[in-house]
Amino acid sequence: MQGSITYILIFSFISPCLCTRLNVGTTNDVYNVMQYGAIGDGKSDDTQAFSKAWSSVCASSGMSTLVIPSGKSFMVTGVNFSGPCNAKITIQMEGRIVAPSKENWKGGANLITMEYLNELIVDGNGHGEVYGNGGTWWNCPTCFRPGVLFFHACNGLNVRNLKITHSPQIHVYVMQCNGATFTHVSINSPATSPNTDGFGISYSTNILIQDSDIKSGDDCIAINGGSTFINATRVTCGPGHRISVGSLGRNKTTDKVSDIHVRNCTFTGTTNGARIKTVEDASVSVSFVTYRGFTGTSATDVAISLDCSSSGCYGIVLEENNIVSAQPGKKTSAFCRNAHGTATHTIPNVLCLIK
Ligand SMILES: *[C@@H]1O[C@H](CO)[C@@H](O)[C@H](O)[C@H]1NC(C)=O
Ligand SMILES: *[C@@H]1O[C@H](CO)[C@@H](O)[C@H](O)[C@H]1NC(C)=O
Ligand SMILES: *[C@@H]1O[C@H](CO)[C@@H](O)[C@H](O)[C@H]1NC(C)=O
Ligand SMILES: *[C@@H]1O[C@H](CO)[C@@H](O)[C@H](O)[C@H]1NC(C)=O
Repeated sequence: MQGSITYILIFSFISPCLCTRLNVGTTNDVYNVMQYGAIGDGKSDDTQAFSKAWSSVCASSGMSTLVIPSGKSFMVTGVNFSGPCNAKITIQMEGRIVAPSKENWKGGANLITMEYLNELIVDGNGHGEVYGNGGTWWNCPTCFRPGVLFFHACNGLNVRNLKITHSPQIHVYVMQCNGATFTHVSINSPATSPNTDGFGISYSTNILIQDSDIKSGDDCIAINGGSTFINATRVTCGPGHRISVGSLGRNKTTDKVSDIHVRNCTFTGTTNGARIKTVEDASVSVSFVTYRGFTGTSATDVAISLDCSSSGCYGIVLEENNIVSAQPGKKTSAFCRNAHGTATHTIPNVLCLIK
């Protein structure tokens, strides 16, 4: 009796799968860059092999996987993983991908571009690393310098278990994407490396960066114009400058940012914790900002600075914050200019807000 019930249940689950297979054709196809001529010795240029493998995986149908295998090192100089593609693609980015030195750079603006893709998964499985060879660029801060990963017009993106190190400039740039989750992404560049933002986000919505560790020479996360519903949860930042919104105000029509949630993040050795920055001359309106549960130490006397333009900031709420001086016995203070709002249970005592 039980046997037959089990049989019926299994059958009813399997039959739709069989139909799907017959209709769609190939499913779960695996494309390995090694089959497309990649060498993986860290010196030979594997750019062409990556492009050929991508053309195949993009033209396939169903669920397809592009494998960049672990235990190898692939030197590429500008790769374009571009859609639209028929397949729903997973990139198993398990090997090491290395950029050439500055002298040998032949690519465009970024080491790896992924664009016009839906439901892309990039999984480093804890081994994958993309190394930008930034050390060969950092001594020329005024030179053009490429970023490492550029996600453009990707919807429903999922990036996880990946390391991104030593970018010449920004590490991960997210532009015009709707729906993206970054989980267990580790970014590592020295504190002294110029303009090496961890994440830069613009014109994007529904982006979540979680359980990730960012060490950089500039902002850990920079949220720029046109971005809404951006969350950073359980991110550790430092060394690095901060998690930042802006600068906003260069373009009055497009520089709107709203619904940003930074939660349970840790800042160590950063210039600031959370900062909203606007250009000085334009009257950018900043409103409904809550700072809750910040605890820690400040290296400067002014631990909280609410420095608004003459048009004012409104709806600023400070609750349950405790920021003491890093120097024992010293007191921290708060600074306000044109800031309207309330502060409760906050150290330093914020008496300068306008009700
Ligand atoms: C990537 O390739 C697509 C299709 O060939 C092209 O439209 C796009 O401009 C390329 N992007 C970059 C950054 O090279
Ligand atoms: C971001 O957090 C807000 C508030 O909790 C939540 O409503 C939203 O769904 C979150 N978005 C993402 C992409 O995680
Ligand atoms: C602002 O952005 C819009 C849309 O991209 C563009 O058309 C406009 O020229 C920009 N304005 C300035 C002052 O940069
Ligand atoms: C943040 O941490 C608090 C305290 O550990 C926990 O209760 C809360 O669920 C966490 N929230 C998120 C979004 O991780």
